[in-house]
Formats: sequence, C-alpha cells, structure tokens
Amino acid sequence: MGKTIADFKTMKAEGKKIVMLTAYDASMARLLQSCAEVDMLLVGDSLGMVMLGYDSTVPVTMEDMLHHGKAVRRGAPDSFVVVDMPFGSYQGSEVDALNNAIRLMKEAGCDAVKLEGGLGVCPVVRRLVNAGVPVMAHIGLTPQTAGQLGGYKLQGKGLEDARRLLAEAQGLAEAGAFSVVLECIPAGLAEVISESIAIPTIGIGAGAQCDGQVLVLHDMLGMFEKFIPKFVKKFCDLAPSIKEGVGRYADEVRSGQFPAAEYGFVGQGDYRKLLSS
Ligand code: KIV
Repeated sequence: MGKTIADFKTMKAEGKKIVMLTAYDASMARLLQSCAEVDMLLVGDSLGMVMLGYDSTVPVTMEDMLHHGKAVRRGAPDSFVVVDMPFGSYQGSEVDALNNAIRLMKEAGCDAVKLEGGLGVCPVVRRLVNAGVPVMAHIGLTPQTAGQLGGYKLQGKGLEDARRLLAEAQGLAEAGAFSVVLECIPAGLAEVISESIAIPTIGIGAGAQCDGQVLVLHDMLGMFEKFIPKFVKKFCDLAPSIKEGVGRYADEVRSGQFPAAEYGFVGQGDYRKLLSS
C-alpha cells in the first residue's frame, strides 16, 4: 500500500527520510512502484524539459500535466502521487486555481498538487486546502519564475533572502501545505527551515538535513545530457548504454544479423511453396 500524508508527518517526527522521485509515464512509474523504495512520485512540470523538449517549464499546460499525471497513476495505482500545477494555472484567480487543482485530483487521480511561490501564494494554498486539496509548496529556486530570480542559481545566500525564505516556509505551513520543497538553497538554511516547521521539507540541492529528498528521474539516471545541475548525482549513466544499444541494433539491422530466426515465427513453414500450389 502507498504512503499517506499522515505517514509523512510520522516519518518527519521519527527522523525517517522521505524518498521522492519524478515520474512522467506509466512504465517508469510501474518500475518505481514495484521497487517499493520510493515514498512519493512527483509528476513534475520538469517534464517540459526532459520529456517535451522545451527550454523551461513555462510552456507546460494543464493538458500536459493531466496527460502525464494519468499515465503515472495508471502505472503506479498504489503510490502517493503529487502533480505539479503548471505556470498560469494558479496565478490568475483563486477560483481558477481551485478549478485547476480539482481537475488534477479528479482527472489525473493524484493525491496532492504542488505549486511554486512564497507568501504571495499562501491565500491560494489556504483556499485549496480548505476545499480538500492537499498542497505541497515549493520555494527557493522556483523554475517557473527562474527569470525573475536571475536564472537557475542558488537562492537565500544573503541574510535578507534567508530570512524571507524562512518566513515563506512558515507562512506556507501555516496556510496548510502538508510539505514544502526547498530547491537550491544553502544546506544550513534548509536545516534551520526544516527544524522550524512541523511539515516535512523535501530538498533538491538543499543539503542532507531536509526531511526528504527529490531528484528529477532523468537526471539521476543519467538520461538528460543537456544541462546537469551541481546538486545532481548520477546514480546510473544510462545515456551511453542507450546509445550503445541503439548503435548495435542499427548495425545488426543494416548487416541483416537482426532478426535471427529465433526472433521470428515459422507458422506453416515454406509459404512460397504453399502459396504457389
Ligand atoms: O518539476 C519538478 O520536477 C520539480 C522538482 C525539481 C522538485 O519541481
């Protein structure tokens, strides 16, 4: 059985780390669920970059998130699945945000939604939570607004920014978020934030003292070569294996070595003879 929000609270209280990874399709979600080592799956809007070939997460639409969210839910029916609210789906009115969050819950069948932002999104978080939508917050480096932050870079280095991030995490917890992602902030700051709020923090480039960790699946498997952030550890290096396998396939198709007889079907034998009689 999958984990629940109550389990994540207990894990924080007991000092057990929460393991989260992104997933975007049914076959990967099935693999992640079956190895049972992953506590939460995130259908991140990072899919815009690793699956759809955009340069940022900004162009990702509600339809994209619904499409991939449904696939992940089909592949991992028992996992706790969080789906990102894409840029533009919660910045307009609270009513729009609520309608979009409810679509993700009802149509993609997710357990929670995630949205980016600090004190400015607290009213939206409160509205969603009051309506029964569990919300994961996301502060620090917020990729949907990376342009405003000066690019994909460390956040909260200066004292003023560090204080602001601490206040944001506390405000979001108060607004009812059940967890908060801390992306690309100093480890010491993430530790202070984690100690100062009752909800679990999930770090990405935020040090080891967060209550859990998340990485983009394609990054940690070594499948995305375009841009590798400093905080990514490659636990596998699949890109060279994929290229090598595809190269061998191409060679064997061109030389006629593939498919050998063992990969085909005999049927009734000699069809040239059978069909000419
Ligand atoms: O979209 C995403 O994958 C994310 C994670 C990097 C936290 O938001």
